[in-house]
Amino acid sequence: MTILVTGGAGFIGTNFVLDWLKVSDEPIVNLDKLTYAGNLQNLQSIADNPKHEFVHGNIEDQALVASLLTDHRPGAIVHFAAETHVDRSIHGPEEFVQTNVVGTFLLLEAALEYWRSLADTDRDEFRLINVSTDEVFGSLGPDDSPCTEESRYAPNSPYSASKAAADHLVRSYFHTYGLPVITTHCTNNYGPYQFPEKLIPLMTLNGTQGKSLPIYGDGKNIRDWLYVTDHCTALRSVLSNGKPGAVYNIAGNCEMTNLEVIDELCTQLDELAPDDSGEPHRRLIEFVKDRPAHDRRYALATDKIEQELGWRPTETFASGIRKTVKWYLDNQAWLDDVSSGQYRQWLDINYTQRAGAE
Ligand code: NAD
Ligand code: TYD
Repeated sequence: MTILVTGGAGFIGTNFVLDWLKVSDEPIVNLDKLTYAGNLQNLQSIADNPKHEFVHGNIEDQALVASLLTDHRPGAIVHFAAETHVDRSIHGPEEFVQTNVVGTFLLLEAALEYWRSLADTDRDEFRLINVSTDEVFGSLGPDDSPCTEESRYAPNSPYSASKAAADHLVRSYFHTYGLPVITTHCTNNYGPYQFPEKLIPLMTLNGTQGKSLPIYGDGKNIRDWLYVTDHCTALRSVLSNGKPGAVYNIAGNCEMTNLEVIDELCTQLDELAPDDSGEPHRRLIEFVKDRPAHDRRYALATDKIEQELGWRPTETFASGIRKTVKWYLDNQAWLDDVSSGQYRQWLDINYTQRAGAE
């Protein structure tokens, strides 16, 4: 069975595609618009693999998506394509509504038309996996229980609101039309190929360059950290054994404050990339102006995926962050490439006015 992946040149999509081709013989068609976050270099190692076809295009291009579906007749769609950075959604929400809401809607329309054309057995087996986030549930207090798949939606950023809207559309296509969709909510991913606008790769890059490590607010916001290949394993088991219409949480069981994350990252940098001065990387920490509507804590309960599908994360934060830092240190050319040009403009937009503010 062929699968169609959207956004497979981005961070999680790349890891999913590379992993898939290692463990499966089934071909992948990879549709990606190559925004600033998509990078064909990520897929260089599989450029000649006949099981992988890269298509440069937009999920909103219905004629293109329809032709990919009729030509390749995939048994599943794994939908990663999105605008994904909360800070960018604050500076420019429109792109988030367009890609995440309208884009997902148009993909659902194309998927529905294709699914209806399938023979009975293929129709029963078809799946559309909608890769969503823990952020749709909003902010938790320190003593709140982790969110379950039934928790109430309460998104606070344009990013999480756009993902929430997409999730609702996906849900409605199951209930209204019977399209066999599954939504997954995952926590913060980290690992190779993540664009250095998100916390861990940004701090790694800044740390190796002796630049400041800008912590928003008091640094006590809590995220759960999921190593990206654990996420990919979870998605594969959802694809094989998840129930149509169901929702699954995927987390690393690893809640940490941002300060704890940066502390561990600095320990790894001190060991793997010691500064010429011999000084610890922690000296670079700088508290800067907080993000508006900065959610205090995210946490997900994973009982359902553990009990129904037998999935559990395998990496600890210590093992995952070490692999991650090593990957960035070994892939300097990749980092140099993605951190030129437009990236510097983004740093100006997001960080210049924060510096020294708190
Ligand atoms: P990313 O920003 O690294 O990559 C997104 C990819 O989507 C890019 O390759 C981009 O070119 C592509 N894309 C954007 N708009 C497109 C369009 N209109 N048509 C086709 N392709 C398009 O994102 P990521 O971190 O890999 O996240 C993947 C998915 O997982 C997203 O849906 C995101 O909301 C979700 N998610 C991510 C995290 C995380 O920690 N990274 C956590 C929870 C959920
Ligand atoms: P981020 O990687 O942007 O993911 P998300 O906001 O989707 O969880 O941020 C993770 C946490 O790190 C979040 O609490 C915001 C914080 N953060 C900083 O303190 N400094 C930074 O420069 C960035 C990018 C994030």
